[in-house]
Amino acid sequence: MRTQVAIIGAGPAGLLLGQLLHLYGIETVILERKDPDYVLARIRAGLLEQGTVNLMEEVGVAARLHREGLVHDGIELAFGGARHRIDMKKATGGKTVTIYGQTEVTRDLMDARAAAGLTTVYEADEVTPRDFDTDHPRVSYRKDGVTHEIACDFIAGCDGFHGISRESVPASAIQTFDRIYPFGWLGILSETPPVSPELIYSRHERGFALCTMRSTHRSRYYLQCSLDDHVDNWSDDRFWDELKRRLDQEAVDNLVIGPSIEKSIAPLRSFVAEPMRFGRMFLAGDAAHIVPPTGAKGLNLAASDVHFLSQALREFYGEKSSAGIDAYSAKALARVWKAERFSWWMTSMLHLFPDTDDFTARIQLAELNYLVTSQAATTSLSENYTGLPY
Ligand code: APR
Ligand code: PHB
Repeated sequence: MRTQVAIIGAGPAGLLLGQLLHLYGIETVILERKDPDYVLARIRAGLLEQGTVNLMEEVGVAARLHREGLVHDGIELAFGGARHRIDMKKATGGKTVTIYGQTEVTRDLMDARAAAGLTTVYEADEVTPRDFDTDHPRVSYRKDGVTHEIACDFIAGCDGFHGISRESVPASAIQTFDRIYPFGWLGILSETPPVSPELIYSRHERGFALCTMRSTHRSRYYLQCSLDDHVDNWSDDRFWDELKRRLDQEAVDNLVIGPSIEKSIAPLRSFVAEPMRFGRMFLAGDAAHIVPPTGAKGLNLAASDVHFLSQALREFYGEKSSAGIDAYSAKALARVWKAERFSWWMTSMLHLFPDTDDFTARIQLAELNYLVTSQAATTSLSENYTGLPY
């Protein structure tokens, strides 16, 4: 088999890249090791920057997103027993975010790819990028016991943090930056109305809490927990009781509790691999970087990566210019590191760390008080949260 761009991974990065390249008349094949149901079953954050919404519109996959997505003009910060609204739309001159589950983004992109008759090989085993340091890269894989090979012009490693693409790069050719946080997030999904119309980020002496949602009838809550905690230690009742301890009274009064339909603990990590290009192979999305979920940047960084990469490949095929692909890594990393900084900053400000002593606690509270009383600070948070320009 031959194609122009072989994409490894059918998560948001791989699927969105496939649709963008299809729009530009560039052939792709996607190789995914899991089956579609497995990919869709992953519970992930669901907050889209305007840039991500624009890309979904560009590939003609935004109808349901506009029908079912919730547009939010602001967020609330809770600390010291009170809540403070950050009017991001006002601070940024009109920018908003949209609540729409990553599962739904993935489903819409999957449906669009299938409708366009584009090739996605699910349950592809032993996917291996080869010869990407030559002008004739290829990708091999096994399916139903048969080994196949795809010759291509380029390989896009969109296979996430645990994928094969980054692992295939010689250690001497890549530099990684890693920060593992000393706590996790215990998340719960419940078929209950959200406690508040917008998200509430709560800094509390007992630990961080986040009130978010998937729709007007499905809520998502997170509690900071210790890394050696286990989800079996948390009955629904214990979760709701602890959440109430970390919220302001108005939120406690408005909280509607119910049975969990999903409950899990996720670790928090900051990670970046440099560069994001190795000859004829590019990394995009979680394959190249991870952010703690505090800033809701994971999906949105995958989107901006594939925006830059699709434009670069469009230039290569359309104008026979390599300028875009030569500039891809530096351009993507410039935005990645700004999102890494913002996600690290939000995480550092809102969570209790093992070394959070009285001084550190006062610094966190001073940071939060400055945020909600200074227009400059409010604007800075808002322009990062709604998404820095591409
Ligand atoms: N071969 C083929 N496919 C693979 C391989 C492999 N060796 N390894 C991983 N994959 C697939 C995974 O099964 C997954 O479907 O690659 C896909 C990677 O998807 P994601 O992990 O969702 O990464 P990405 O598309 O970059 O999306 C980033 O997902 O993890 C969240 O918080 C993250 O919201 C962000 C988004
Ligand atoms: C979510 O809806 O899961 C979510 C929203 C915002 C975040 C993290 C997670 O910062």
